Amino acid sequence: MAPSTITSRTKAAGKEAGHSLSQASLSPALNEALKKLRTDFSVSTEKLREIVAEFEKELAAGLEKQRQNIAMYPTWVFGLPSGREEGQYLTIDLGGTNLRVCWITLNGPDHHTEIEQDMYKLPSHVKTGSAEELWNLIADSLANFIKKHNLKGTSEDPLPLGFTFSYPVQQDHVDRGTLVTWTKGFEIDGVEGQDVVVQLGEAIEKRNLPVRIVALVNDTVGAMIASAYNDPETIIGAIFGTGCNAAYMENAGSVPKLREFAAGADLKPDTPIAINCEYGAFDNTHCVLPRTKYDVEIDNKSPKRNEQAFEKMSAGLYLGELFRLVLVDLSEQGLLFRGEDVERIRSQAYCMDTGFLSSQENDTLDARQDRFEELVGFRPSVEDLEFCHLLAEVIAVRGARLSACGIAAICKKKGITSGHVAADGSVANKHPHFKARWKQAMGEILEWPEDRETDPITLTSAEDGSGIGAAIITAMTMKNIREGNLVGIQDGGPFAKRG
Ligand code: BGC
Repeated sequence: MAPSTITSRTKAAGKEAGHSLSQASLSPALNEALKKLRTDFSVSTEKLREIVAEFEKELAAGLEKQRQNIAMYPTWVFGLPSGREEGQYLTIDLGGTNLRVCWITLNGPDHHTEIEQDMYKLPSHVKTGSAEELWNLIADSLANFIKKHNLKGTSEDPLPLGFTFSYPVQQDHVDRGTLVTWTKGFEIDGVEGQDVVVQLGEAIEKRNLPVRIVALVNDTVGAMIASAYNDPETIIGAIFGTGCNAAYMENAGSVPKLREFAAGADLKPDTPIAINCEYGAFDNTHCVLPRTKYDVEIDNKSPKRNEQAFEKMSAGLYLGELFRLVLVDLSEQGLLFRGEDVERIRSQAYCMDTGFLSSQENDTLDARQDRFEELVGFRPSVEDLEFCHLLAEVIAVRGARLSACGIAAICKKKGITSGHVAADGSVANKHPHFKARWKQAMGEILEWPEDRETDPITLTSAEDGSGIGAAIITAMTMKNIREGNLVGIQDGGPFAKRG
């Protein structure tokens, strides 16, 4: 069995971040605890390859049939953009913490894209409230935006809108989609099993807004399309953020289940179609991922038990929670935070986010102590902080190594050996060591030569996929409507009539 690589990288990451902390300064009991955690959280090269082999099987199963672990939803976005897309589009992005409305001007060949945007905070009660509350909030924000920016549309000539909705949605058309299940801690009543375009459309209609939803977009598809607008080497769009997922282009002929869709039956086998993998649900049956007792606890306490197994071990929402659960466990064993009141850590699930985790690994001792005090009301001892630093690293290393598996599996399955993975999300953007660890794991899985000068597959920063990507997809769909190519489009509406 190939050795676990965590220990050696641990030292390197410590040096990279300029730390002089080391395991040696921990008490024997904490040292022992850390050793066990390192073993439990390690993912060896061999294990990575085993996971990727399973991943490939689940990707294939999802293309073959509906309702598999990895859903592999066809999105009815045919091919990458030409780069010449133009026009003005509204976009809405329902993110985990904010709602963003944009007015985007695509200027075609010179690629200078203009964005006007407003951010509306999503009150946390909305995330577990009712459908009505959600759609009213979005439609009201849209109404405000239209008024504030003095945008003009009519019922005959409405403003075209791309709606980025980053949850698992079964799409029978580019402008339709049924929410299969909420993820990332959302639990809004009355949306699962319903068409989110119809629901938002009704709220828009009630307010008589001159807007028409043209495309429903997953953030991964948006990332891929926005990146491909400028970068022909784009192969995949991926999100490493609160949740995780990726999208890529598949040939219709390699998606047997397309036969089950009215719009899919007549596609030529070489027609490229964007697939929203929804691979956060990989290994929902718990066959291959090396779950620790903390992973099991996260799953058991989640509103969606036995769902998003891969996401719960690798995405931003859960990394900080894993960290918190370990701290609670060790303080209950009397190993950490002795004499302190740990009630706030114990009682506030999800209080430690990716930013906190990243800070514990990378910031100065003082800054880390301040962050702790701010959050939990006490200043941990230097030894406790050293432990936290090493633990944060263990959890983040595992997250990054697992994150490589989904992308490596897509590349292996498609025979892709080089190109750019357009990545977005808080983990990719805010965790300083994520990219290096991800690439290290990719090299181990795909057996890249140690002495390579460049990496064949690299992470690039996705250009605002949920804004620009949604606008480009809206432009591509409008072009199809105008040209009478209505495959995968439920309702061209006034645009079809105009065309
Ligand atoms: C959702 C995906 C989304 C990903 C990243 C997951 O929880 O199911 O649709 O792409 O998060 O935002």
